[in-house]
Amino acid sequence: MKLSLAVALLGDLNLALKAALLPTVRDVIARPKLLLMPKILSQTFMAHVWTVFGAGTDEAARAVKENLITLHARGVVLDIGAAGHGHTVTYLQRRKVHKYVALEPNVLMHQRIRENANLAGYTEGNGSLIILPYGADNAPAIIQTLSSVDGPPFDTLVSVLTMCSIRDSQRVLTRLVAEVLKPGGQLLFYEHVLSPRADVAWWQRFWSPLWKVWFDGCRLDCPTHLWIDGMMTPDVHGTLKSMWSERKVWGKEGEPDENLFWHRVGQYIKNVE
Ligand SMILES: C[S@@+](CC[C@H](N)C(=O)[O-])C[C@H]1O[C@@H](n2cnc3c(N)ncnc32)[C@H](O)[C@@H]1O
Repeated sequence: MKLSLAVALLGDLNLALKAALLPTVRDVIARPKLLLMPKILSQTFMAHVWTVFGAGTDEAARAVKENLITLHARGVVLDIGAAGHGHTVTYLQRRKVHKYVALEPNVLMHQRIRENANLAGYTEGNGSLIILPYGADNAPAIIQTLSSVDGPPFDTLVSVLTMCSIRDSQRVLTRLVAEVLKPGGQLLFYEHVLSPRADVAWWQRFWSPLWKVWFDGCRLDCPTHLWIDGMMTPDVHGTLKSMWSERKVWGKEGEPDENLFWHRVGQYIKNVE
């Protein structure tokens, strides 16, 4: 891999530090207890980072998201890691998606999610919008929130650039799909993942420990697409079988493979039995 490409992410890191360090220091001065709460401190920094990176990251993936989310999302949608500015909701077709549930543990992001959801026609007042402060690992709390429903409540799960930030994401997502996604429901994902190129993967592993410190746990070296593909569930006899009845995976058009942020896009349909 060309050295210039391998170190390009230092530019992003520099930009993030420039944009988010000062506002984070101000937050710490206003609330010194943050220093004793590393997770909240990291979320505070990430909220400032996303103010700078969120819109550009969204714009760079507009075509992918239209082909994935606008085309396929339907019914009751759970957006895992709705993040910051609730970009996913802006891609939903209001007539096809009647409820949008934003799962975002970073409560500093909630106001922006609410604003974008309201502009897209989803409001808490009429029950078409729910914003949950939980992590994806809290399936029981997610189900309880939609307690009027029997069985898994969601028709569509969406994950956009989020699995990389979730610890033990294969186990967490397997449980989420098993417990909250309806049989025949779909998982739509757009994630940056571990590259199949050994040289790129080496740099992704090299940078991940540093990157995750500044970007709220985000790792560059997660083979999320392979983990999703390999997700299993026990059948009625206790034998493990694939969770999926249909799977489609594709890439981001025009994206070079010599890239630390190499993306996979997928639509997976959950087995009916
Ligand atoms: C890079 S941002 C994702 C951006 C967003 N989905 C978008 O498309 O603009 C990653 C998000 O995942 C969220 N996150 C981190 N850990 C999580 C968890 N355990 N469960 C759900 N979301 C999580 C973070 O708070 C952060 O907002």
